[in-house]
Amino acid sequence: MESKPQFHPDKLPKHLAIIMDGNGRWAKQKGMLRIIGHENGTKSVRTTVEACAEIGIEHLTLYAFSTENWNRPKTEVNTLMKLLVKSLKKEIKTLQDNNIKLMAIGNINELPKNAHKELLEVIDKTKSNTHMILTLALSYGSREELINAVKAISSNVKNNIISIDSIDESIINNHLYTQNLPDVDLLIRTSGEQRISNFLLWQIAYAELYFTDILWPDFQKEDLHKALKCYEQRERRFGKTSEQLSK
Ligand code: FPP
Repeated sequence: MESKPQFHPDKLPKHLAIIMDGNGRWAKQKGMLRIIGHENGTKSVRTTVEACAEIGIEHLTLYAFSTENWNRPKTEVNTLMKLLVKSLKKEIKTLQDNNIKLMAIGNINELPKNAHKELLEVIDKTKSNTHMILTLALSYGSREELINAVKAISSNVKNNIISIDSIDESIINNHLYTQNLPDVDLLIRTSGEQRISNFLLWQIAYAELYFTDILWPDFQKEDLHKALKCYEQRERRFGKTSEQLSK
């Protein structure tokens, strides 16, 4: 029988974010087209979503397509969008079966019409689900998100809706795509790259970072467990000392 690792509920990240990287290299290593890497990447998406729901992670956010990804060759962008539509149609059942609510962050109006429509439909159909919130970052860029927030806040100041002095963290939070999400506790990036790539810059201020060499299509449930076990061992001090925390 499969042994299930136990995670202490207090030591589980409330919000896990993942930069799913390495699909292209995975395919290249096997002499296959990049898109085959992306196709296999969707399998890891499903495994990870189901595993997170099983463990009891409340929020999972996946970096599926960045604002910069629009600059990839047109054929790759088109195929990624088709894959998104296909996955949304196929995985609605996984979401319903696991009581998962789908949300999206990013400039989703930029998505092709059919992808945009499918996404909104799945978001609507799963809106009453309560077990876990799965957020897809699509056409997402953190700097763009922050620029939009600054513009909206400035406009409120200009129109005397708020004063400059009242601007605080909560006002900034409330103007981000992630306004309904807690801060990220753990950020995982696969494929050996150790950078943030314009993902949730504000929201990861105190996140623990975890990098693994595993390429995303190879990322299995056990790899997620390993990352969570590592997170369990981290001491999150939020600027305080160890001694203060143990009091
Ligand atoms: C990074 O690999 C991955 C992406 C840019 C897209 C992620 C997409 C998927 C996992 C599949 C579709 C997702 C959903 C939610 C349906 P890369 O192409 O940058 O790999 P490389 O760095 O090795 O070239």
